[in-house]
Amino acid sequence: MAQHLLSLWDFSREQLQAYIDLALQLKKESKTGIRHQHLSGRIIGLIFEKPSTRTRVSFEAAMYGLGGQVIYLSSKDTQLARNEPLKDMARVMARYVDGLVVRTFGQEIVDELAGYSSVPVINALTDLHHPCQILSDIMTVIEYRGPIADLKVTWIGDGNNMANSWIQAAGRFGFTLTLACPKGYEPNPKILAEVQQAVPGKIRLVNDPMEGVRDADVINTDVWASMGQEDEADSRLKVFQAFQVNEQLVKAAAKDAIVLHCLPAHREEEITDQVLESAQCVAFDQAENKLHIHKAILASHLG
Ligand code: CP
Ligand code: NVA
Repeated sequence: MAQHLLSLWDFSREQLQAYIDLALQLKKESKTGIRHQHLSGRIIGLIFEKPSTRTRVSFEAAMYGLGGQVIYLSSKDTQLARNEPLKDMARVMARYVDGLVVRTFGQEIVDELAGYSSVPVINALTDLHHPCQILSDIMTVIEYRGPIADLKVTWIGDGNNMANSWIQAAGRFGFTLTLACPKGYEPNPKILAEVQQAVPGKIRLVNDPMEGVRDADVINTDVWASMGQEDEADSRLKVFQAFQVNEQLVKAAAKDAIVLHCLPAHREEEITDQVLESAQCVAFDQAENKLHIHKAILASHLG
């Protein structure tokens, strides 16, 4: 049976750590000119129903970098745009390619594709999760600060897809996670409750960003309006004002705290230009690590 990557919760800590270890090894090797052909003769299909710069390009570069090939399909170019059922699409695509990387809206869409696909389906972002991103983020934290289990991580802002996947990561890796979100914009309650039950006392939800960031080793934020929420952008701008990651907030964290942002960033909204461009911010290393993590994911699932 094909092994899909739909959410982090489907994997053990050891399995998640294995992606990161392989990515670190591939990164080190690529810096010394060592190239692999692990996926020579293999093809992946990318089906993207939302825009993407980093995820699309890093998956494509990862696949080519391992000797494989890519077919990119934006949803409007497929029969999905004319309501062909997903279960038909999945079964057809699986006869042409060795894996599917999918960015879409509902998590149920990737779940359904996976249910019908005989080749691995990789979740490249849904409204509920962004699992591959969190793996490259954790890889970046480990590079800067060592084992993540010993660290205090804070999420500031919207309880969105990124926040949900960070909660699942905390459940698996065992680090302390505080989420500071405005009332009414908290993460998915079912995911939060399930993971809190698995790691009692490790995950806390607060509504005050200053309280959330206290003693944090890692400060993490994301846009206030995610893809698909464009019509809420103005109202969210007002609600989230106090949740900006700025110099004052960063000063309230641990002295050597690092700042994460998965990008794209909206400067002077969720993060100031000053913080994004500061030495404490590792956003561009996170972006690079997407390439290495995606190589590790593709090699593990298709290799
Ligand atoms: N971080 C991230 O997923 O970026 P893209 O939307 O550009 O892929
Ligand atoms: N939460 C953001 C992440 C973008 C990479 C979104 O879904 O738009």
